[in-house]
This record gives sequence, C-alpha cells and structure tokens, in this order.
Amino acid sequence: MNKIGAIVLAAGKSTRLKSKLPKVLHPVCGRPLVYFPVKEICQIGAAPVTIVINEDFKNKFEEIFKDNKKVSFAIQKEQLGTGDAVKSAKDELLGKCEYTLIIPGDVPLVKSETLKELVNETISKEAICGLLTMEFKDPANYGRVVRNHGGLVVAIAEAKDASPTELLIKEINSSIYCVNTEWLFNTINEISPENKQKEYYLTDIVKIAVGQEKKIVAKRVSEPSELMGVNTRYELAEANRIMRHRVLEALMNNGAGIVDEFHTYIDDGVEIGIDTTIEPHVFIQGKTKIGNDCYIENGVVIRNSIIGDGVRIKAYSVIEESKIDNGAVIGPFARLRPGSTLEPDVKIGNFVEVKKSTFKKGSKANHLSYIGDATVGERTNVGCGTITCNYDGAAKHKTIIGSDCFIGSDVQFIAPVEIGNGSTIAAGSTITENVPENSLAIARGQQVIKHDWKKNT
Ligand code: UD1
Ligand code: CA
Repeated sequence: MNKIGAIVLAAGKSTRLKSKLPKVLHPVCGRPLVYFPVKEICQIGAAPVTIVINEDFKNKFEEIFKDNKKVSFAIQKEQLGTGDAVKSAKDELLGKCEYTLIIPGDVPLVKSETLKELVNETISKEAICGLLTMEFKDPANYGRVVRNHGGLVVAIAEAKDASPTELLIKEINSSIYCVNTEWLFNTINEISPENKQKEYYLTDIVKIAVGQEKKIVAKRVSEPSELMGVNTRYELAEANRIMRHRVLEALMNNGAGIVDEFHTYIDDGVEIGIDTTIEPHVFIQGKTKIGNDCYIENGVVIRNSIIGDGVRIKAYSVIEESKIDNGAVIGPFARLRPGSTLEPDVKIGNFVEVKKSTFKKGSKANHLSYIGDATVGERTNVGCGTITCNYDGAAKHKTIIGSDCFIGSDVQFIAPVEIGNGSTIAAGSTITENVPENSLAIARGQQVIKHDWKKNT
C-alpha cells in the first residue's frame, strides 16, 4: 500500500465564473487550472491521484492528463457538495494508500513543499486529519477555522452558516487536507446536508473527528496567496498574474532577459535561451522554444513555434506553428502562419504573410507579399508585392522557386508553377507556366507610347 494518495475535487460547476466550462479547465498561463495542483501532488510522490469530475467533461480531463500514469478519474453524478465528491473517489483510494491528500482543483498556486509539510506534520504527529489554514484580512466566503480556548481546532464554519462571531475569524480553511484513508471513508457517510446550502460539506469531517476525540493538526501557511481558491473571474485573473510572475522569474533565473515583467505574457512550459531579450507586450504561448541571443520586439505573438539562436523578431509580428532557424530576421508586422519554415539567415519583412512554405537559407521576402504553399530556394530574393496564387477556388497548389532567383516586384505566380534555379522574373509578371533554369521570364502587357497625343477637350 502506498503511504500517500490524493483526491482532487474538480466536479464543481462554474457558477460564480458564469461559464459553460468548468472553472478548473479555465486557463492559467496557457494550461488548464487543474493541471497545476495535480503536478505539485505528483511531485511529492502521491499515487494514485484521483480527480473527481463531472462526466460531461471526461474527454477534456482525459486529454489533459493522457501522459500522466498516476492520474485516475472518479465521476461525481450530481454536485451535492465537497463531501459527496470525496465519497465518489472511494473505490479508487480505499485500501490503496494509508493517507489521502484532499485538494480542491481550484488552487493553482499551491506548491509541493507546502503539501509535503502538511503530510509530514500529519503523519509525524499521528493525527487522523491535518489541514492547511491561512489568515486573510478579508476572509470573504472562505470557511472559518474555529478553535477552542486551548487553541485546538474544533470545527470549520462555512461563511453562509457561520455565526456573527465566527464570521470575525480571520483564519480560514484552505480545503487542503491530509486524512487517514480508512477513517476518511468510514466518516464520510456520517456527513449530512443539514446546512444553508443543503450540501454535503467535507469540512464536517473536522467536527466529527473532534466528537470522536481524534487528533487534528492545523498548519498555518505564511504565504496566503499560495492557497487562494479561484472562484471568480477576478480571482482567475489574479491567479494568472501571480503564476505569470513565477514563470517569468524562472525564465530570468535561466538567463532570459525580460524588459518589463509586468507586461510580458509567457505560458508555463515555454523555453527561452540565455541572452534572449523579450520586450513588453509580447505573448509567447503553447509549446514554444526560443534559442539563445534572440531579440523579440514589442507586441509580438508567438504560438507553438521553434525558434533558433540569434533570431530577431521585430514589432507586432505574429508567428504560429512555425520553425525559424538561426539568424533569421522577421517583421515588423510579419505573419507566419502554421507550417512555415525559415532556414538560417532568412529575412521576412513588413506585411509579408507566409503560409505552409519553406524559405531556404539566406532567401528574402522583404515587403508586402503573400507566399503560401511554396518553396523558395537559397539566396532567392522575392520582390515587393509578390503573390503566390495558390488557390483556384477548389484546391491549393504549389509554387516552387529555385535557388539564386530574382523575383521582381508585383509578380503573381499562378500555381502550380515551378521556377528553375538562377532565373529572373520581370516585375509585374503573371507567371502561368514553368520557367527553366537561368532564364528571364517577362509576362506583362507591353508599354505603348503615343507621341504628341492630346486629350480631346
Ligand atoms: C471550500 C470549503 C471552504 C474553504 C474553500 C477554500 C467546503 C464546504 N467549503 O469552499 O471551507 O474555505 O473551499 O477554497 O468544502 N466540488 C466538487 N463537487 C461538488 C462541489 C465542489 O467536485 O459537489 C469541487 C469544485 O470543483 C472545487 C472544489 O470542490 O474545485 C471546492 O468547491 P468550491 O465550490 O469552490 O468550494 P468553496 O465554496 O470555495
Ligand atoms: Ca473554491
């Protein structure tokens, strides 16, 4: 039998968030909120880790934890309260672990060290139940920790049920418990929904333990924000802000330069190399990796992309699901759509849109172009205003441009079309047929001059 298992309560509705999505699936630094407490629990070696969920969202939860072998799920059929939620996890936990850590899914900021301290304290003091508490200046809707004259915890009073004196208590229940598993599942059946909300309150296990003269330990944490529950959209924004600072601090500790830590938005899990500088109002999201010595200017958005070393991304460029190799320069105002690959030293300038295309080493498209479903060879220069006409209204077609080509301004390639190495396309050409190597293609109306021509007035 394992020493420690865990239950994560995540079946609640999003009532206070006024959302169709369960609150624990709302994003915090790019990940569903519930990802964070589960990660911390797994770090202290707890197993099994059972997440109590609402069946309607089973697929979403399974997707999030598909790579985590310790995680299992229990379905709570009706949201009858936190006590009932714990009851639904009985088959997963009973007989499998000596102690059960219970944690609400809505505490994204909790740290594994704090959970470890609670577990150690409960086990070393041979308590039946340990809880984490904290002091809030404004305890709002949190459950109040009621202590007797000797300072021992005797009950938890939910805000809605608390007496006026209890409401004055500043010490509150974090809803994180470490409980003897066997006792927990015996006791959980004794909870009744006789309260203002007609819910089965998990908090009632405290007064039941006191009635049975069992030992309870309560550990006060010094950093209350760590145990903050996310119940409103305001608190969700606050949790994001605190998590964002943690993410940025870790990146800075690894050598990344963040110009303004208050206005930089980087998802958890993003990797950034040393001496890479990130200017304000930059968003870096998803599975993104950025190398060393890059410079990312103001207002850039990067999503699920791999960026090499020494890359400069100028202001207001948007990069999605793309790969950019060493020394490339992008923007300002460039857009790389999914499936774009830029090899080393490529230059993509202002108002250039690239989609599902490869620019080979040293090639350039410096101004106002659309390059889609194309390959541009090494050292080729794509002139201003060039368009790959890749879509005929039904299907997409490829444009293949060789190496060392010169594409004049305002050229349209009517795909599918192929340009051989070393060729030049005259400005203003509409290219409908393949162009062989080392040739010049001109495909434009000829200029006509009418001498001494006057308007009829
Ligand atoms: C709970 C505690 C309160 C504590 C606070 C700390 C109870 C009765 N109250 O209140 O003492 O101060 O947490 O954050 O436990 N859930 C289910 N099934 C349900 C109901 C809830 O899975 O039927 C889950 C929710 O998804 C949530 C967690 O349990 O993740 C806590 O529920 P929530 O409604 O947020 O409880 P609080 O009112 O915050
Ligand atoms: Ca809560």
